[in-house]
Amino acid sequence: MTRERMPRRKVTVIGAGNVGATVAQRIVASGIADVVLVDIVEGLPQGKALDLAEAAPLLGHDLQVVGTNDYADTAGSVVIVVTSGIARQPGMSRDDLLLKNAAIVKSVVEQAAAYSPSAVIIVVTNPLDAMCHVALKASGFPRWRVIGMAGVLDSARFRTFVSMELGVAPSNTSAFVLGGHGDTMVPLPRYSTVGGVPITELMAAEQIEGIIERTRNGGAEIVSLLKSGSAYYAPAAAVWEMTDAIVNDRHKILPCAALLKGEYGVDGLFVGVPVRLSRVGVDQIVEIGLTDDEQRAFMRSAAAVRELVEALGEYA
Ligand SMILES: NC(=O)c1ccc[n+]([C@@H]2O[C@H](COP(=O)([O-])OP(=O)(O)OC[C@H]3O[C@@H](n4cnc5c(N)ncnc54)[C@H](O)[C@@H]3O)[C@@H](O)[C@H]2O)c1
Repeated sequence: MTRERMPRRKVTVIGAGNVGATVAQRIVASGIADVVLVDIVEGLPQGKALDLAEAAPLLGHDLQVVGTNDYADTAGSVVIVVTSGIARQPGMSRDDLLLKNAAIVKSVVEQAAAYSPSAVIIVVTNPLDAMCHVALKASGFPRWRVIGMAGVLDSARFRTFVSMELGVAPSNTSAFVLGGHGDTMVPLPRYSTVGGVPITELMAAEQIEGIIERTRNGGAEIVSLLKSGSAYYAPAAAVWEMTDAIVNDRHKILPCAALLKGEYGVDGLFVGVPVRLSRVGVDQIVEIGLTDDEQRAFMRSAAAVRELVEALGEYA
């Protein structure tokens, strides 16, 4: 007797490029869910999905990866990860890139959201905070189901540099980075620890300043080494941690871009803050006390997001 298969947990990853394919690999290899990998380029998601599927017997997992150009295959996903976009090309201004990626994110989110109306969307495409606004509008989802990935990556970079500086295990460190992605991020050294000890007790102020600067330029440092393309192993690991927290309903507090409605004194903007992630998406925005300096840096971050959102026009 053969009965029809019950649908299994499914995660859609849009964009089968470096970040998307690496996210897909991590999700199936860790047993979280089946993955549908979507791209606009024909053959690319199919080829990467087949390659990933052929690794399953060796890695010892039984999850499926399907590559497709058709959003019908994504139906019923619990999480939609959006990595589709183009990189800045020579001669292209930041605003050109902003509007090109906004058009891409709008189109992919409209299609994916229609097939998975209950999903949680994790936005990865840059400029991150602005693309979260595009995804929120295009999906029509409530704010707790549209989340941006930036803080988990920035915190991981900060932790890496702390571990290198102090010669301690990376897993022994914890860190908190708030605010926008990149230049305007707000690292909080007093909430960053090694084995529970604040790093302010373990390092000189100049050492910490150096680590903050390196974290701020973390993406650019890798771009300048690679010459073409940008970071994807750590970004994919960050997306994986968020996906795992959502799919497995872990109630984990992580720094993510969330739409604020009065929290931290900001209204109607996506900014990086600590949130609790569970099956519903953001089930709580955690408000922590900031010093005057930290609050000022946070508001600068919010102002930078507002500028981008204004440039987005009809997309936001
Ligand atoms: N938030 C973060 O911290 C963070 C970190 C790393 C990368 N990123 C961003 O993630 C994005 C992806 O990076 P990457 O290195 O994987 O780039 P990539 O160029 O390797 O992959 C992008 C993929 O998107 C696809 N694509 C383009 N238009 C599409 C469309 N309309 N529909 C479906 N697919 C489409 C492309 O064909 C390509 O395969 C970039 O915007 C990058 O800046 C963000």
